[in-house]
Amino acid sequence: MSECKRIFVTGGCGFIGSNFIHYALAERSDIEIRNFDNLTYAGNLENLADVESDARYSFVKGDIADRRAVEAALEGGFDAVINFAAETHVDRSILDAGDFIRTNVLGTQVLLEAARSAGMVRFVQISTDEVYGSLGATGLFTEETPLAPNSPYSASKAAADLVARSYFRTFGLPVMVTRCSNNFGPYQFPEKLIPLFVTNALAERKLPLYGDGMNVRDWIYVDDHSSAIMAVLEGGRAGEVYNIGGGNERSNVEITRAILGILGKDESLIEFVRDRPGHDRRYAIDSSKIERELGWRPAHTFDDALEATVRWYVEHEDWWRRVRSGEYMEYYQKQYGER
Ligand code: NAD
Ligand code: DAU
Repeated sequence: MSECKRIFVTGGCGFIGSNFIHYALAERSDIEIRNFDNLTYAGNLENLADVESDARYSFVKGDIADRRAVEAALEGGFDAVINFAAETHVDRSILDAGDFIRTNVLGTQVLLEAARSAGMVRFVQISTDEVYGSLGATGLFTEETPLAPNSPYSASKAAADLVARSYFRTFGLPVMVTRCSNNFGPYQFPEKLIPLFVTNALAERKLPLYGDGMNVRDWIYVDDHSSAIMAVLEGGRAGEVYNIGGGNERSNVEITRAILGILGKDESLIEFVRDRPGHDRRYAIDSSKIERELGWRPAHTFDDALEATVRWYVEHEDWWRRVRSGEYMEYYQKQYGER
């Protein structure tokens, strides 16, 4: 087990990062977290308003691709980096891949270099199952599945994984890469399937299903991803890749019908639209390595977690309306001064 008490978390204002920070502060009384985030459209400081006054937590606004900003924010000494920061939305990467390459590839290299210079004992690179490409009707992604990314987003994540690997092989930096499947839960930006469809349905707007709606993802509740990351941080082997999945394969049509069912809304809200270019057909994860080596298991069942998630958006209408209107962007200035 590695003693990691001072953690430099990047991208902590996004969906998974903010859930992880909540999880880590609740689960580890002696942990200290600095959240380094550039506050792109996906970064929402309001997600962490409840921990702002916690002495174990601090926030620094900055860009992971800016070496000086990273070095300055690392002042004081940290044991580990957990790199969540990324451009993450596949559809945006199809419209313009530039920021994906800069943040996801260059930004990761800048962080790896900073961690190496600082002599850190852990570096957890948060990657994705999308680096493996697309599966046919059967089979699962294992850690040995060849990388075959199909979108500019997944290509940039695959590139980052390989740069991370090189920092382990060449410099001995204790890097671990996690590759997780599709997450869902609170605080997810309403451009991703589940929060988009829940909030559209609540507003009586159409739910745009791509293609035939039969693409399959392996869904995991975000807290189960957080517990897996904690297990890798504390017990993972340096230089290793760990797949993380919920074991919940669902087609997009199934997810959509489940959401409409929970909300009591009519299926006439579904609208089939033009398919996403290069749309991966199916993802499914073999998590047996992390289960075997680190004793990790998902704690949530899909149906209960989906229902709880849908309820969260119903009960936090103020949150998603502020996101949709752009008002959440004003929070940093209010709390911290000039943006
Ligand atoms: P998100 O888009 O919700 O949040 C990304 C965060 O990174 C935001 O807070 C944003 O401000 C920050 N950021 C972006 N560019 C930055 C930069 N240059 N410098 C500093 N901060 C920057 O993302 P998410 O869905 O929470 O995903 C987090 C990580 O997990 C990503 O690396 C993603 O590839 C990976 N991942 C996501 C999923 C999923 O289902 N969402 C699944 C597997 C892996
Ligand atoms: O698998 C992990 C990945 O999951 C992460 O690495 C990515 O950061 C994250 O965005 C997610 O990628 P997907 O492309 O799978 O997620 P998204 O929510 O965009 O889409 C899920 C599925 O729903 C996919 O098959 C496309 C479909 N979809 C999506 C949207 C936004 C629709 O049919 N209509 C939509 O409007």
